[in-house]
Amino acid sequence: MKEKVPDRLPTHVAIIMDGNGRWAKQQRLRRVEGHKVGIDSVRDITEATCELGIPYLTLYAFSKENWSRPREEVKALMFLLGLYLEEELPMMMDRGIRFNIIGERGDFSKSLQAQFDAVMKKTERNRNLVLSIALSYSGRREIIRSVRHLCEDVKKGLVKRIDEKAFRRHLYSPEIPDPDFLIRTSGEMRLSNFLLWQVAYTEIYVTDILWPDFRKQAFLDALAEFAKRDRRFGNVKDF
Ligand code: FPP
Repeated sequence: MKEKVPDRLPTHVAIIMDGNGRWAKQQRLRRVEGHKVGIDSVRDITEATCELGIPYLTLYAFSKENWSRPREEVKALMFLLGLYLEEELPMMMDRGIRFNIIGERGDFSKSLQAQFDAVMKKTERNRNLVLSIALSYSGRREIIRSVRHLCEDVKKGLVKRIDEKAFRRHLYSPEIPDPDFLIRTSGEMRLSNFLLWQVAYTEIYVTDILWPDFRKQAFLDALAEFAKRDRRFGNVKDF
């Protein structure tokens, strides 16, 4: 990578990929064209993450709420998701990327679920980057799900003390550390139900750039901002 790389990088970057629709509108194209070009950004950012040696990347691709979008758009997104998995698998193998999903996998068609399982299985030994895609994801639902499982553990006598550690065990991917850095594209200042438990101490960065235009240089600019942040985790420094 020829560009200037910040000296302090996050371990886990999470991204709310927003603005595909607005990008398409600006170009006088159909919304689905924005999603298609958005996939090029996914590839670009994934490759850049690998090159930088950042070990975890989590992308918000489809929320639980997104099912209520127009039928045609949901259908197009499902098609693109299948195509993405098919086309990106060689790149994942080549770059040592382990593919992971967080969210309600059971909400998807049987054939997409089979594709998720196949890509996860094929990439399970890859060690350079864990790429998690949030699909049919809702942060509140993830919390409720953990609480439910935790209650079952308590009932069975498996858990004596309800604490953060016991709760965390039931998240979709408990082994993945909380994100250090959350990027949201296209200017909206909200979390939109993404990783609500995990972002307790995450540094947040919002850019006006629309997701299809968010490429390597924009990512490096965001990471340069992260390197400047003073992370205190609720503590005081130099008092
Ligand atoms: C937000 O833009 C984007 C989405 C809801 C979907 C994100 C999907 C992709 C980047 C492509 C598919 C991804 C994979 C991994 C296959 P929006 O439609 O909400 O944009 P708007 O707010 O401008 O309308």
